[in-house]
Amino acid sequence: MTRTVYVNGEYLPETEAKVSIFDRGFLMADAVYEVTSVLDGKLIDFEGHAVRLKRSLDELDMAEPCSKEQLLEVHRKLVELNGIEEGLVYLQVSRGSDGDRDFVFPSADTKPTIVLFTQNKPGLADSPAAAKGNRIISIEDIRWGRRDIKTTQLLYPSMGKMMAKAAGCDDAWLIEDGYVTEGTSNNAYFVKNGKIVTRPLSTDILHGITRKAVLRMAAEAQMEIEERLFTIDEAKEADEAFTTSASAFVMPVVEIDGVTLGDGTPGPVAKRLREIYLDESRKAAV
Ligand code: PDD
Repeated sequence: MTRTVYVNGEYLPETEAKVSIFDRGFLMADAVYEVTSVLDGKLIDFEGHAVRLKRSLDELDMAEPCSKEQLLEVHRKLVELNGIEEGLVYLQVSRGSDGDRDFVFPSADTKPTIVLFTQNKPGLADSPAAAKGNRIISIEDIRWGRRDIKTTQLLYPSMGKMMAKAAGCDDAWLIEDGYVTEGTSNNAYFVKNGKIVTRPLSTDILHGITRKAVLRMAAEAQMEIEERLFTIDEAKEADEAFTTSASAFVMPVVEIDGVTLGDGTPGPVAKRLREIYLDESRKAAV
């Protein structure tokens, strides 16, 4: 099926959508993005994603392409036009193009490029992968130092997923200076004696929108949380582990570098948090 996508103010069939070859998103990865999930045809935590988009744009001195209200309207219209019940909305804003390649930013009045498209993912909530849990490997984190900005520089995370695939696994966690930063496209957690441990926010990791919601819900459910640096060896000795992201919600991790966690099935904390997160998010969806 040909999707309807959104490019710079126009709704178009995906086959007719065009962006300049000089666009800085294409040439320099000079672009930021958001991924918002859709359940029951509604957007999950749109507000959180809109706020983080604004922050990413501000950090890079990039112009806002439109207001938050307009963004919400475009998200909703694409979900409706493409008949998405469960899936994702991808949004990208780049610094645009002034018609040539140059390291220097184009003048401030250059129009940003905004692109949105949907991805239909039936079974996102009732996911077979979540029922089984992910097997992960650990690899070195060699990304740039501003991972709090959600840029489209995704080559290394893609290579990380390929390394995991080559090892017969599902994903990779990244290690810097002996400590786990995050997953290739998710935040990382382990659970030991009922306590949830995750790395604190800094410029070293993306400030996950799902992370924020899940930690709030865990605190409301009287679960113990500790935000601190942790090693991969601690995670391997944990009772259970999991990741969070807008595209996979709470995803149990059942194996790290060949070491089975617990009995090798998704742990009770991850399962409970996934349920609570899906429940609460559906109620608050817009
Ligand atoms: N990835 N850390 C990284 C490096 C990420 O790329 C992501 C999200 C997260 C989780 O953030 P959130 O909860 O806001 O989705 C953490 C998205 C889903 C992606 O690139 O497709």
